Amino acid sequence: MGAAERDAKLVIRGGTPLRGSIPAAGSKNGALYLVAAALLSAEPVTLRNVPEVADIREMGRLLEALGATVAIDGPTVHVEAATLTETFAPADLVASTRASFLVMGPLLARLGEAGCAPPGGDAIGVRPLDVHLAGFRALGASVSREGANWVARSSRLQGARLFLDYPSVLGTVNVIFAAALASGTTTIVNAAAEPEVAMAADMLNAMGARISGHGTGIVTVEGVPRLHGCAFEVIPDRIEAGTYLLAGAATRGSVEVTGARADHLDGLLSKLTEAGVRVDVTERSVRVTASEPLAPIQVQAVPYPGFATDLHAPMAAALTQATGVSIIHERVYDNRLLYVGELRAMGARLTTGGQSVIIEGPARLTGTPVRALDIRAGAAVVIGGLCAEGETTIRDIGHIDRGYSRLVERLSALGADIERLVP
Ligand code: EPU
Repeated sequence: MGAAERDAKLVIRGGTPLRGSIPAAGSKNGALYLVAAALLSAEPVTLRNVPEVADIREMGRLLEALGATVAIDGPTVHVEAATLTETFAPADLVASTRASFLVMGPLLARLGEAGCAPPGGDAIGVRPLDVHLAGFRALGASVSREGANWVARSSRLQGARLFLDYPSVLGTVNVIFAAALASGTTTIVNAAAEPEVAMAADMLNAMGARISGHGTGIVTVEGVPRLHGCAFEVIPDRIEAGTYLLAGAATRGSVEVTGARADHLDGLLSKLTEAGVRVDVTERSVRVTASEPLAPIQVQAVPYPGFATDLHAPMAAALTQATGVSIIHERVYDNRLLYVGELRAMGARLTTGGQSVIIEGPARLTGTPVRALDIRAGAAVVIGGLCAEGETTIRDIGHIDRGYSRLVERLSALGADIERLVP
């Protein structure tokens, strides 16, 4: 990224209800898991419907550093990991996304050795790796710290029954990756059930793995000697779709996301219905229409299928427009409230206690300079800006670019007055 791009800003002139229809993009987080999964096979893997976001390009660079070839052709990504020449993921290539730690499971399973510098990602709380590491150990690997780096080694991983202390999303995926090529059967108890985890297992099965129970809290993996290549399509991004639906509800508009899967959005859609928003679901789309002011609600952000922590901040921004007192309790992360100060600067009335936030609405938001402090805090200030009177300028939009492809184009298609200024 050049200096000019780093200083790019979003400028939003708010106050217009969003109306219209946009297509869902492929899941950003899910696509990252699939790119990493391609390391498990020596044969070519083709991924379709991959969102064009910075994190995917970063993951591609990491795989190339390990010896794979990666070709990104718009929403299609080709990965071939015929020979891997490196087992260590260096600091400069793992700094921006936490998902880079997902190269550990495949490298360990295929080469018997895997190393990774401490992975980066959003500053949304302490983000330990104990679930991943305990999983590798349960499969017989030795795991150690060499300086700041993590290293795991095993001449032959052995399937086991293991319990995850927390249903970590990336932790579950990493253990599934390692177990896919282990000898014997692995049962993961208290596994993450997120649709993106289930999709990663579906792709491995398409490559010849024998995984069952994925998408539930107990996943069974019968190890196989090798996996073959495949072509696989990424599921729609429920968090991105949810963000646009919340923007529609917050601005008292009517927004349809085609291709979005309502069955991945139960937590959000049930809460929007409770807030008085009309939700229309068809097999190929989800639409929300807010003709009345939103009613206040209480929300708990918990693991799937509960309300998604990644929609906490966008939901908080929408609830600044509800008439009355709403509460959001964050139960996944211990630092998800970076958006609070930014929304307050716009005139929102928010009070925090621990990881809970009390939102008094309706607030008359006013356009002001704010920052995108992480991906979803960025989405929250975008929604704030769309509701605000006057001009909102958002800096540090690199965070938003990590998770939302073509944001300006998509919001403009819904009638928003938004532009990206690159100095
Ligand atoms: N945790 C542990 N030990 C571990 C790993 C996690 O205690 O070894 C705890 C964390 O401290 C946290 C909780 O588990 O409190 C949730 O972390 P999890 O591991 O489930 O999150 P993640 O796998 O690191 C992914 C997404 C996040 C999303 C979470 C939860 C990617 C790249 N990241 O992170 O997405 O919030 O699952 O759904 O897939 C985002 O897209 O904005 C984002 C941050």
